[in-house]
Amino acid sequence: MSRIFSGVQPTGNLHLGNYLGAIRNFVRLQDDYECIYCAVDMHAITVWQEPEQLRKNIREVAAAYLASGVDPKKSIIFAQSNVHAHAELAWIFNCVARIGWLNRMTQFKEKAGKNRENASLGLYAYPSLMAADILVYKATHVPVGEDQKQHLELTRDIAQKFNNDFGTELFPMVEPLIFGEATRVMSLRDGTKKMSKSDPSDYSRITLTDGKDEVAKKLKKARTDADPLPEEVKGLEDRPEAANLVGIYAALADMSKEDVLKEYAGSQFSVFKPALTELAMEKFGPIGDEMKRLMADPGYVDEVLKDGAERAAAIANPIIREVKETVGFLVS
Ligand code: AMP
Ligand code: TRP
Repeated sequence: MSRIFSGVQPTGNLHLGNYLGAIRNFVRLQDDYECIYCAVDMHAITVWQEPEQLRKNIREVAAAYLASGVDPKKSIIFAQSNVHAHAELAWIFNCVARIGWLNRMTQFKEKAGKNRENASLGLYAYPSLMAADILVYKATHVPVGEDQKQHLELTRDIAQKFNNDFGTELFPMVEPLIFGEATRVMSLRDGTKKMSKSDPSDYSRITLTDGKDEVAKKLKKARTDADPLPEEVKGLEDRPEAANLVGIYAALADMSKEDVLKEYAGSQFSVFKPALTELAMEKFGPIGDEMKRLMADPGYVDEVLKDGAERAAAIANPIIREVKETVGFLVS
């Protein structure tokens, strides 16, 4: 059976993009694959995290997985820093990846901003750790939102160079799994910007723990244009905000955008937004409630994470051993 790996950073504000682009797909894959889902805390600290808040956020990611329907018996849920092999393989990959490859990473450029000299070395090496996350399990498929495509290409480059350099076929070529009608959910305030955890405006995103009033308020304020919804998807070109809301509706309702427009062509946003609010609450209202319940008593979440780390380590340890032997380290 093919193996799946994916991760979400515990940096707070888990939002609709995380859910529709990634977490919901994690749930759908667990019947057909062996799945490993991680709270990538070592990725989170590439930018400053308050220690107390980080601990809470790690549990929040695990709670989001559980509340969305990831089954901790079938799938593995754990925190990255609890399995040593990630960091070990990341270092080896730091010596395989070329600086020129990392210089091309757009996420680094965005996150480092103008003050690149002051970004952490970890932020720069981040994609190499991500490759290690996946390959330390020899995972073959990685469900992610569209923004991670470039990192997965780098993962393939690293695997290929390692295999070539050492004359081995140790690492598989990883395939991204990017599917659904909302692989790139945009900000509610600006349809040309990705919905993100770090946007200073709370009104830019719907978070998984927002209640009905908040969702209604945020959607009411969401930027749109003055036109009614078009008949066809082509009519959404050059209307980024409208395209975004239709895409969100389609993903939540499990419909195609075409079918959403069949129902709402000619409608004003004054009609469409309340319908979207209802739908959003129906679909992820219960998830937010369950997350809050789990977070109120994190004992269960901690148990899941502990059990997950043990099961993850049992897969990763023999693989990191094989890698160390291949590289020429003494392995006892
Ligand atoms: P991050 O929040 O960067 O840890 O992302 C966790 C997962 O959510 C990754 O698979 C991302 O690709 C996905 N993701 C993040 N933001 C969005 C978005 N705006 N739309 C769709 N997927 C997203
Ligand atoms: N870089 C991913 C993000 O920001 C998170 C991540 C870290 C990840 N390691 C991973 C995703 C391994 C998939 C597989 O969203």
